[in-house]
Amino acid sequence: MTKYLQMTPEDLEIAGEIVRGGGLVAFPTETVYGLGANALDVQAVKKIYVAKGRPSDNPLIVHIYDKSQLADIALSVSADAEKIIDAFMPGSITIVLPKKSCIDDCVTGGLPTVAVRMPSSHEALAFLRSCHVPVCAPSANTSTRPSPTTWQSVKEDMDGRIDALLMGSDCKVGIESTVLDLCGEQPTVLRPGIVTPNGISAVLGKPVRVVTNPKEKVNSPGVRYKHYAPRCPMVLNLDGNKDKVLDFYRRCEQDGYNPVILTRYPRLYPDCSTWYLGTTDEEVAHNLFEALRRCEKKYDYIIACYNGTGEVAFSVLNRITKSAGQNIL
Ligand code: TXA
Ligand code: MG
Repeated sequence: MTKYLQMTPEDLEIAGEIVRGGGLVAFPTETVYGLGANALDVQAVKKIYVAKGRPSDNPLIVHIYDKSQLADIALSVSADAEKIIDAFMPGSITIVLPKKSCIDDCVTGGLPTVAVRMPSSHEALAFLRSCHVPVCAPSANTSTRPSPTTWQSVKEDMDGRIDALLMGSDCKVGIESTVLDLCGEQPTVLRPGIVTPNGISAVLGKPVRVVTNPKEKVNSPGVRYKHYAPRCPMVLNLDGNKDKVLDFYRRCEQDGYNPVILTRYPRLYPDCSTWYLGTTDEEVAHNLFEALRRCEKKYDYIIACYNGTGEVAFSVLNRITKSAGQNIL
């Protein structure tokens, strides 16, 4: 049985007790909902992989509420890391640092490094504070599904599989944190997010590498797996060719599907079923995962259209391309 908890001091205390007792609690952050366990308790960490159906070589992010906790987790904090921490933490960034031995291989997927994040959401910080321990947490979806940005979406995937769910606010950002590796020769963005390479580069005063080719052998195993996929087929149009999209929509109908066009411009398709994605890239990031989860319930073929440019658009494209399983229209 999963307990449904409010963001009250009493319920936060219960959530903290569950984590200290080796249980799993889903909690809100500003990016996506996380599925938290005591990062220092190997048995608890293993339950995360079971609840998510996640391969155990895919490492987890350790969440903290205070910068002083870094010393308990990381072996060393480089000058670059100090700058990033001062500029962006708390915030939607995760940094990869050399790990201390108290962080078990099951947290890091056997890597000698640990990913650390301090969320900016007050609800997340209140939960982490009530735990008193570092909390490792992946996104609170079952493996391969879109990340949950509302507590209702966590419930859909995790009801009965976890000890408790904190019913907090909807996530403001909507896509997961930027993962920045600070252990190599050059700072490297392993997963793009709302904190952008240019912003990081400005703070560090040096160029930042961005991993763009998913086949590149990087030390972030998470970028390899099937990800963010809705339950129905999905294609992605990137060139903004309206006639091509309409043609595909009609062919879907002829094949007996009930398709939907996921777009920033629903008015372009007055005779079709459409779903509004938002106008700015930030709005699209905020809406994307929830839109996929809603569309798969009402329709059975998703035709997504997105042709944003710029740094936030790059992060959105990273997610939406994977959702479509690289099916480009
Ligand atoms: O916004 C977020 O980061 C959310 C919320 C809950 O904080 N968490 C999240 O966790 O997205 P997850 O497990 O879905 O993604 C973790 C990512 C994966 O791509 C994983 O490979 C990478 O972080 N990662 C974790 N530890 C790493 C390490 N030691 N070295 C390199 N990459 C690491
Ligand atoms: Mg995830």
